[in-house]
Amino acid sequence: MYHIHELLFLVAAFQPCLAFPKLSLDHLWSRRATEVAANNDSTFFWLAQDEYSGKTFFDDFTFYTFGDPTHGTVTYVNQTYAFENQLAYVQDDGIVIMKGDDTTWLPEGQNRSSVRISSNTLYNTGLFILDLNQAPWGCGVWPAFWTVGLDNWPFLGEIDIIEGVHDNEHNQVTWHTGPGCTLSLESNYTGTVVASNGVPNTDCDGNANGNAGCGITEWSKASYGPFFQEQGGGVFAMKWDETGIAIYSFYRSAIPQDITAGSPNPDNWGTPSASLAPATCDPLTNFVNHSIVFDITFCGDWAGNSYATSGCPGSCSTHLMDPTNFVNASWSINSLKVFKKQFINGQVSAAYSLHVPLYSLFVMLVFFAVL
Ligand SMILES: *[C@@H]1O[C@H](CO)[C@@H](O)[C@H](O)[C@H]1NC(C)=O
Ligand SMILES: *[C@@H]1O[C@H](CO)[C@@H](O)[C@H](O)[C@H]1NC(C)=O
Ligand SMILES: *[C@@H]1O[C@H](CO)[C@@H](O)[C@H](O)[C@H]1NC(C)=O
Ligand SMILES: *[C@@H]1O[C@H](CO)[C@@H](O)[C@H](O)[C@H]1NC(C)=O
Ligand SMILES: *[C@@H]1O[C@H](CO)[C@@H](O)[C@H](O)[C@H]1NC(C)=O
Ligand SMILES: *[C@@H]1O[C@H](CO)[C@@H](O)[C@H](O)[C@H]1NC(C)=O
Repeated sequence: MYHIHELLFLVAAFQPCLAFPKLSLDHLWSRRATEVAANNDSTFFWLAQDEYSGKTFFDDFTFYTFGDPTHGTVTYVNQTYAFENQLAYVQDDGIVIMKGDDTTWLPEGQNRSSVRISSNTLYNTGLFILDLNQAPWGCGVWPAFWTVGLDNWPFLGEIDIIEGVHDNEHNQVTWHTGPGCTLSLESNYTGTVVASNGVPNTDCDGNANGNAGCGITEWSKASYGPFFQEQGGGVFAMKWDETGIAIYSFYRSAIPQDITAGSPNPDNWGTPSASLAPATCDPLTNFVNHSIVFDITFCGDWAGNSYATSGCPGSCSTHLMDPTNFVNASWSINSLKVFKKQFINGQVSAAYSLHVPLYSLFVMLVFFAVL
């Protein structure tokens, strides 16, 4: 027996297919398996939208070459320089590398060269899935994988998905917004809210509390730094939709099968590491037109100010002189995929069905004939 929703799903599924010539029928059938019923008698699935990987990874990113707003002792280099000096490249096996300079001795106080890139595509909601082998780490190192509204910070929001300093083990997720957005202490996440002066800081206002934003430290000891790398890295996923913003992290052996198969379904992933609930922070008005950013900075507001209490040797500025201290200050990325939420309404309109192409109708007929 066919339920009406299955039929509607199939009709709708072929429409976006046209914009995706590479999409195979195999994908459609596996997507059908991830169809999710929403409360509202409507259904949706996560449709592949953009993939950044392999030789074309850098094509849709722009190298940022301005000063570091977080006061790192860093020079962000342009694309030509990064490619020529092997600070950004794609290996023959398709793995994407971005790194800080680990070959040049510097006088004390001089900027170390590094990379910061921003996606040219801007996003308003989506499911972002980063598969990586390593996030940069080491004394004095401060990397981040994040999304941000490019104008008028912090009013268009910032979502820090991977961020840490030194040899930290626990990843820290942080949101920065305009006023009026708070992090709920109710525990729909496995991590711990970052405290300032012993009090959990739930105010996400980017201009309050010394620009701290509201953050959650991940529970997993293998979510950042050397332990994450020893696990072979893994996957970080950020789900941003009208139900809030949730971050999930999985070290390699724990990556859910639906992610590996290319049909991610966050409903199968359990409690997120960190989440921002819509009741206390509207995910659609506080986060707008986000670019995806990767960067690696050194010292500065976080890695510099925390250096003395980090257990790292010497001072951040002397540590920065020796290139061999930065051999692990490197992103190693397998892929970054962005999916968009595709709703299928509970009603079918004649006008809509007229738009279903003949080829799709043919495939549907074959499908039903087979059943
Ligand atoms: C149900 O979905 C419709 C159409 O997408 C939307 O207009 C309506 O607000 C939704 N109702 C609820 C309770 O979410
Ligand atoms: C380091 O870079 C910053 C911008 O990020 C710049 O203002 C500063 O002059 C640079 N310092 C040196 C010593 O070049
Ligand atoms: C890139 O940076 C290098 C080193 O600072 C500079 O010499 C070169 O002119 C820059 N190239 C472009 C295209 O901006
Ligand atoms: C936590 O999750 C439960 C179940 O999904 C939901 O009812 C509740 O509203 C959530 N709490 C917050 C603060 O989002
Ligand atoms: C987001 O981008 C769109 C398209 O460029 C623009 O029209 C809109 O004003 C932007 N929204 C905000 C809040 O800046
Ligand atoms: C780099 O990583 C290797 C392997 O984990 C470790 O043995 C080494 O101490 C690290 N070096 C630095 C400078 O962090």
